[in-house]
Amino acid sequence: MKLTLSFIPALTYLGLYTGIVSAQDSNVRSLSPRRQSSILINPAAQPELPTVNAAQSAASAVGLNLTDIQGDILIGMKKNKEFFLFFGIANVTAFQANLASVILPLVTSTTQVLDVATQPNTLLNIAFSQAGLTALNITDDIGDASFTNGQQASATPPVPKGLGDPGTTNWVPQFVDDTSIHGVILLASDTVDNINATLDSLQSALGDSITEIYSLQAAARPGDEQGHEHFGFLDGISNPAVVGFQTPLPGQAVVPTGQVLLGEPGDQVSSRPAWAKDGSFLVFRQLQQLVPEFNQFLTNNPIPEPGLTPEQGSDLLGARMGAPVFLSPLFDDPALGNDTQQNNNFTYAAPGSNFSDPTDQSKCPLSAHIRKTRPRADLGLPENTTHHIVRVTAAEAASNTTQIERGLAFVAYQSDISLGFEFLQEKWANNANFFEPSTGFDPIIGADNGASRIVNGLDPTNTSRPITLSTDFVVSRGGQYFFSPSLSAIANTFSV
Ligand code: HEM
Ligand SMILES: *[C@@H]1O[C@H](CO)[C@@H](O)[C@H](O)[C@H]1NC(C)=O
Ligand SMILES: *[C@@H]1O[C@H](CO)[C@@H](O)[C@H](O)[C@H]1NC(C)=O
Ligand SMILES: *[C@@H]1O[C@H](CO)[C@@H](O)[C@H](O)[C@H]1NC(C)=O
Ligand SMILES: *[C@@H]1O[C@H](CO)[C@@H](O)[C@H](O)[C@H]1NC(C)=O
Ligand SMILES: *[C@@H]1O[C@H](CO)[C@@H](O)[C@H](O)[C@H]1NC(C)=O
Ligand SMILES: *[C@@H]1O[C@H](CO)[C@@H](O)[C@H](O)[C@H]1NC(C)=O
Ligand SMILES: *[C@@H]1O[C@H](CO)[C@@H](O)[C@H](O)[C@H]1NC(C)=O
Ligand SMILES: *[C@@H]1O[C@H](CO)[C@@H](O)[C@H](O)[C@H]1NC(C)=O
Ligand SMILES: *[C@@H]1O[C@H](CO)[C@@H](O)[C@H](O)[C@H]1NC(C)=O
Ligand SMILES: *[C@@H]1O[C@H](CO)[C@@H](O)[C@H](O)[C@H]1NC(C)=O
Repeated sequence: MKLTLSFIPALTYLGLYTGIVSAQDSNVRSLSPRRQSSILINPAAQPELPTVNAAQSAASAVGLNLTDIQGDILIGMKKNKEFFLFFGIANVTAFQANLASVILPLVTSTTQVLDVATQPNTLLNIAFSQAGLTALNITDDIGDASFTNGQQASATPPVPKGLGDPGTTNWVPQFVDDTSIHGVILLASDTVDNINATLDSLQSALGDSITEIYSLQAAARPGDEQGHEHFGFLDGISNPAVVGFQTPLPGQAVVPTGQVLLGEPGDQVSSRPAWAKDGSFLVFRQLQQLVPEFNQFLTNNPIPEPGLTPEQGSDLLGARMGAPVFLSPLFDDPALGNDTQQNNNFTYAAPGSNFSDPTDQSKCPLSAHIRKTRPRADLGLPENTTHHIVRVTAAEAASNTTQIERGLAFVAYQSDISLGFEFLQEKWANNANFFEPSTGFDPIIGADNGASRIVNGLDPTNTSRPITLSTDFVVSRGGQYFFSPSLSAIANTFSV
């Protein structure tokens, strides 16, 4: 398997056991010993998380309470093993009591995740669908029509193109009946054993108050492939720096707190219910990756760049589909990919220019996944940050079906789904005329309701040569939209 912008990551730990225990964490501690090493992976290419002190001073400068924000929202793709439990609420009264007494004490806050000393053995977060809010008799309008209508409404016609799914034929059946799933519990840890132990005690404590509808086990790829997704690309490099949480690395977009958290400055919707403050919309998509088909396509279509072997030509085609080839246009540069000071420090414009030249695709196609989903200087500088999301995806999905399925358990947070995930998928990735006429589809995630996709600009020796992709290498198996409330909202609104 080719590794584009590859590197051999070192699994480094964030700190050492200091023995400090927060009150909130004592429950977890009573189940098993304190952890001695971080719950998170830390591939060299991905931005490091801030220290708890740095994050808290950034937060207090803008009046943000990181202890009230669920821990998954801001941390990025640093989970090793993750388990998604999609559930229905079977007994509202019993569930609400359990939410307060069993689940809330285990809900991991952002503050807790940042320090090994306060990390639980298993990170637990919870989020609710619209059907879940309705079941809990929470009737306020939260201010997001995409959330309220559910993912299926956006994925299937009559929406003109929508998310591009060819209906729900490929969807996991449990996502098709989109009123039965009321919420999702996320468990993450460094080992499956930890997750299993937490899951066991959770299941026995919750008993009949919930129904387990669907589950998915995801894991970062092992060994040398850590930090890479299934097609072999290095992933998790570029995520926005959120004001009040971290300081930006070179090239990192800086987004206002309200781009991710509801009710904070920069939130595009002003009329949120008070309880929604500091919550975030969680978009879940189970994205299957057809890895052999993708590789075969690359093998069959090497770029005829003079001086490259066919294998190198195939690698180059793959790289131009998805990777940030801009800094290293012809060959993989592992050391560069590894360096967080450099690996995100580029726009698609010439240095010193505020706009890209749309006729120059020599270094990166206009259609490349990374360019479609963050056009940087293509739309002019300073960058408009309205359409940024925080991706916290766990790499490998192994579903609970008999057929082993490879893919991405895609999770992204934002304060507005139609400006975030849906905008990127529909208006950019699926729009053959973004950001120039005849750009073509995003060759990785672009979708046209099952039809073939034409992609331009992939061949640097002739950027007007269209390449037709008759296979969707990424297949949507569906998903749902959820709301991840603040800890205080769980206590004061969701469990009463
Ligand atoms: C299986 C499906 C997918 C694969 C294989 C994939 C792969 C990648 C890779 C390799 C990168 C570049 C590394 C990085 O900057 O972290 C990237 C970046 C990104 N992807 Fe995806 N991705 C997938 C799905 C999605 C979806 C569904 C969306 C949203 C609609 C999305 C949005 C983004 C964004 C916003 C970036 C960052 C671009 C930047 O900041 O420069 N991705 N993806
Ligand atoms: C921050 O949130 C936590 C969890 O809800 C709460 O216990 C604490 O009182 C809050 N702190 C402030 C200063 O509001
Ligand atoms: C629901 O849970 C409550 C509280 O545990 C219990 O009293 C009640 O019998 C349950 N209802 C049903 C239908 O099981
Ligand atoms: C739902 O909440 C409303 C107030 O918001 C209340 O009047 C009503 O009784 C509640 N219904 C149930 C079934 O708890
Ligand atoms: C975790 O639980 C699953 C399902 O019960 C089981 O198949 C798996 O072997 C367990 N893994 C470990 C490491 O115990
Ligand atoms: C997982 O698969 C098994 C065997 O097909 C099934 O009995 C079980 O209900 C599934 N569990 C979930 C949570 O999907
Ligand atoms: C990437 O960085 C890590 C840690 O900084 C280092 O151990 C490793 O050798 C680097 N790999 C490459 C290919 O430069
Ligand atoms: C980032 O890129 C800019 C513009 O090319 C350059 O001036 C700067 O030195 C780079 N920063 C780092 C840390 O390499
Ligand atoms: C680019 O835009 C910035 C901010 O609007 C401005 O200060 C700068 O002069 C512009 N540079 C060029 C080369 O147009
Ligand atoms: C940023 O983009 C949004 C939505 O596309 C648009 O409404 C807004 O006017 C833009 N902001 C600036 C400063 O251009
Ligand atoms: C580039 O591709 C286009 C479309 O296939 C073709 O018409 C044109 O002749 C090609 N140009 C060269 C120089 O090969």
